[in-house]
Amino acid sequence: MSKFFITTAIDYPNGLPHIGHAYEKVLADVIARYRRLCGDEVFFLTGVDQHGQKMQQTADREGVNVATLAQRNTRKFLALWEKLGVHYDGWAATTDQNHKRCVQKILTTLHQEGQLYKKAYRGFYSVRQEQYLTEKDRNEKGDFGEEWGEVIELEEENWYFKLSEHADWLKEAVSSGDFGIFPEFRRAEVLNAIDRAGETDLCISRPRERLHWGIEFPFDPDFVTYVWFDALINYVSFAGYRKEEGSDLPEFGNLWPANTQIIGKDILVPAHSIYWPCMLHAMGLGDQEMPALLVHGWWNIRKASGNSDEGSDTEEKMSKSLGNVVDPGELADRFGVDAVRYYLVRDIVTGKDSAFDVARLITLFNSELANDLGNLLNRSLNMTKRFLGGELVSNNYDDEPCAGVRESLSSATTAYLAAMDEHDLPGALKAINGHVVHCNQFIEKNPPFELRKDETQGERVAAILSHLCESCAHLAVLLSPFLPAAATKILGQLRAGDIAPRTLDSLHWGLLPSGHQIGKAKPVFPRIVLEDGQ
Ligand code: ME8
Ligand code: MG
Repeated sequence: MSKFFITTAIDYPNGLPHIGHAYEKVLADVIARYRRLCGDEVFFLTGVDQHGQKMQQTADREGVNVATLAQRNTRKFLALWEKLGVHYDGWAATTDQNHKRCVQKILTTLHQEGQLYKKAYRGFYSVRQEQYLTEKDRNEKGDFGEEWGEVIELEEENWYFKLSEHADWLKEAVSSGDFGIFPEFRRAEVLNAIDRAGETDLCISRPRERLHWGIEFPFDPDFVTYVWFDALINYVSFAGYRKEEGSDLPEFGNLWPANTQIIGKDILVPAHSIYWPCMLHAMGLGDQEMPALLVHGWWNIRKASGNSDEGSDTEEKMSKSLGNVVDPGELADRFGVDAVRYYLVRDIVTGKDSAFDVARLITLFNSELANDLGNLLNRSLNMTKRFLGGELVSNNYDDEPCAGVRESLSSATTAYLAAMDEHDLPGALKAINGHVVHCNQFIEKNPPFELRKDETQGERVAAILSHLCESCAHLAVLLSPFLPAAATKILGQLRAGDIAPRTLDSLHWGLLPSGHQIGKAKPVFPRIVLEDGQ
């Protein structure tokens, strides 16, 4: 069994979780479940990035204690993952003691090894981005643009990490592919950025008098750790890196390197493609111990992201009766978890952006799930109950339409696997839908309710229905990473919960044996109908 270690960005809990957060976690959850289905031993790590200036500022503005704010909002993220069926194995909350100790150990070692130094610096600082700006950050007009928010001039002493010493190594690791970046077009972006950002060292502390909400420097208590340096370390600290004796964290050696670190495009440069690999390199990790990044695009929505970047006006296009619902929890309450999970990974090309549109959510659910798959399930199970008393026959009937069903499933499965292995989740769902559509047409062309009127067709009718039920079982397994609850329901109705394979290598034609008794059909994907009939 091979291991598969998957991580996501850890979210800032300084507000409510939004649709972008939900997308990333569902994407990771689908991939984690898929890898399990491939037979891998999966560890899925996600969490919250609780420290830093943004958190402190939000707390100050709201007049609450920052630890209380972090806890309160963290609960909202936890509740959302529970609701959306996002199942993780490790929860990385950066206020965790184990994490703090790990960050401090890393700082101490880097200090001892001469990777850190202290110096005074005067410069412009973006409060929103929590970073010093350089001349290169000015726009054509010579100003620091709106994206930086409030920019102030600061002079202070701080600790620096000798990032520039690792720039040449990083360039090589990115070019050679030792440091993986997907989609491929992002690699050029990173190589460009190394030329710019690799020249300067990274300021990794903040004076405590300005920012108290962070991890204390173990050898200089007037300073706390810069939030990015703290947050990036979550990927190793919660994987057991330099863990304490008796800790129940995983064995680092069994997990690292991460097979996939899922992040959004906004945090690729400089944090994940420059700071992070250089930090790992400075910590002594080798070229073969670098993680691989999967960089997703953005769901463009106004306001809900908390950022002003790239917002479009999609909210305004929504019908009034929909009430501009973009809170993922509310969406799930209103349209169901299946509809939300399906939409979030179905209507965005992995790596590219998409525009959030609740009407599309409804259309996709109603057409591909309620109509196509829902109808197939209903008709297959109901006819099998009525015409065969629920009992299947051997499903290797050799007429052309039946052989066509087997071929369609086989090519859909191949396409599904190829798509999943390239993180092309919409492609995988389209492959599934392709077989669903084939089966529905198969019913139209070979209607059991007509054929059964001819007594000589009895064997064929039984074969047709058995092919359909067998197809439904396969479809449920393939769909299970996306819609685990629905897949369980479908398999339950087929009474195949116990015989469905746990891994894809044992997914072969003939899951449901001759004589198998199916259960009763109950709608799995009830059509979404809006009150105003829209
Ligand atoms: O960046 N569409 O946290 P965050 C898709 N704490 N993805 C989006 C999105 C959108 N509209 N908006 C945000 C942070 N994201 C740091 C990460 S990791 C060591 C620290 C994604 O809450 C974003 O790209 O601002 C990131 O991957 C994740 O949500 C958390 O964003
Ligand atoms: Mg952000």
